[in-house]
Amino acid sequence: MPAWLEIDGGVPLRGQVAVSAAKNAALPALAAALLTSEPVHLENVPALADVATMAGLLETLGASLARDGAGMRVRVERLRSDLAPYELVSTMRASVLVLGPLVARHGSARVALPGGCAIGPRPIDQHLKGLARLGAEIVIENGYVIARASRLKGARITTDLVTVTGTENLMMAAALAEGTTLIENAAREPEVDDLAALLTAMGARIHGAGTTRLEIEGVPELAGATHRIVPDRIEAGTLIVAGAITGGDVTVTGVVPDHVSAVLAKLEECGVGLEVGPTWVRARGPARPQAADVTTSPYPGFPTDMQAQLMTLLGLADGQSRVTETIFENRFMHVAELGRMGARIETDGAIAIVQGVPGYQGAPVMASDLRASAALVLAGLAARGRTTVARVYHLDRGYERLEAKLAALGARIERRA
Ligand code: EPU
Repeated sequence: MPAWLEIDGGVPLRGQVAVSAAKNAALPALAAALLTSEPVHLENVPALADVATMAGLLETLGASLARDGAGMRVRVERLRSDLAPYELVSTMRASVLVLGPLVARHGSARVALPGGCAIGPRPIDQHLKGLARLGAEIVIENGYVIARASRLKGARITTDLVTVTGTENLMMAAALAEGTTLIENAAREPEVDDLAALLTAMGARIHGAGTTRLEIEGVPELAGATHRIVPDRIEAGTLIVAGAITGGDVTVTGVVPDHVSAVLAKLEECGVGLEVGPTWVRARGPARPQAADVTTSPYPGFPTDMQAQLMTLLGLADGQSRVTETIFENRFMHVAELGRMGARIETDGAIAIVQGVPGYQGAPVMASDLRASAALVLAGLAARGRTTVARVYHLDRGYERLEAKLAALGARIERRA
C-alpha cells in the first residue's frame, strides 16, 4: 500500500516555517536548459517527485544532471533524442514543456499528447497553435505531437485563453526563433516571470515579462546561466492557511508577499489576522473564520491552486460561502472527502456552496490530486481526532517535506508506509 499520513488534529500551529522554491517555476527552468549546450545552474531546486520526473525526462533527451546541495546543474551538450514518451507525459503533464525547447534547438520534437487528468481534460491546443504560428509543422500521429521546423520564425501570437505552460513553451521557442515574436494574452503568473528572468540571464531578449504582452527578439544561441528559482507562492498560501485554520500563530518566511496578495486579501476577509513584512507573512487564526465568496482566475486573481485549501477554511466559517472555479472543469474532488470529515458542501458545475460547520471530525480520506491532498491535510490539522490521508504520493509531487514542516510547527502528523 502506498504511503499515507496520520494526523491527530486540534493543535494550534505556532512558529516559523520557510517556503521552498516553486515547483511550477522549477519545471520550466529545467526544460529551459534544453535551449543551450552550456551548463545551467539552478541554485534551489525543490526535492519533489515532479522535479525527479522532469530530470528523468531531460536525461533521456541527453542531459547530464547533478544535484549540487540544494541546487542542480544541468547540461545538455548534445540532444540525444527528441522523444517525450507517453509513460512520462501521462504521469506529469508539465513534460509538455520540453516541446518548445526541442523544436527550437533540435528542429524536431515528438511529445505524447497528455490527455485528461483528475482536474479536467487540459488540452494543449494553444501550445500547438502558437508553435505553428512560429512556423513549426505539426502533425498528430498515434497519440504523439510531432513538430518540425528548420528554424522557427518570429510571429504575432494571441492565445485564445490564458495558459501558463503554453506561454512558457512559446516564450522558450521564441527565444531561439529568427526575428521578433509577440505573445498577446500571455500568462502573468510569477512562474512565467521567473522563466523570463532565467532566459534573460541565458541571453534571451524578452520585454514585458509580468504583463499580458511579451515581446521576444529571437537570438541564434543561448548561453548557460545561474538562477535562483522564485519561492513557492502556493506552498506559502497553504502554510498560511495551516496557521489560520488551527487558530495558531505561524510566520511563513522566504515569501514574496506580492505573489500571495489575492490569497491574503481573501484570508483577511475571512478574519485571519495578518501581518506582512518584506519577505514574510504572519497569520493568526480567528476563533472562527468568516464566510467569503471566491472566484479563481489567472494571476493576479485568486489562484486555482489555492482553491481547495481555501475551501477547507471556508468549510469551518460562520455562514455560507460560494466558491467558483473558472480554470479547471473538475477541480472539486476534495469536496466529497471533506464531506466525510463533516463539511457541508454542495457543488453545481463550477460552483461550490459551502455551508460552514463548527468543526471537522477526523476520518480516513483519500487524496485525488496535489492540491486536494493539501486541503485534506489542512482539514486533518483542524479536525477533532485522527485523520488518515491515503495516496500521499499526490502531495509529494508538489510539497517538499510538508509533514516535517508542519510537525516543526507543533502538528501531530506522521508519514506511514
Ligand atoms: N487550456 C486549453 N488549451 C491549452 C492550454 C490550456 O484549453 O492549450 C486550458 C486548460 O485546460 C485550463 C486552462 O486553459 O482549463 C488553464 O490552463 P493552463 O495551461 O494555464 O494550466 P497549465 O499550464 O497546464 C499550470 C500549473 C498548474 C496550475 C495552472 C493554472 C504548471 C506546471 N502547472 O498548469 O499547476 O493549476 O497552470 O494556474 O505550471 C498544480 O501545481 O497543482 C497545478 C495543477
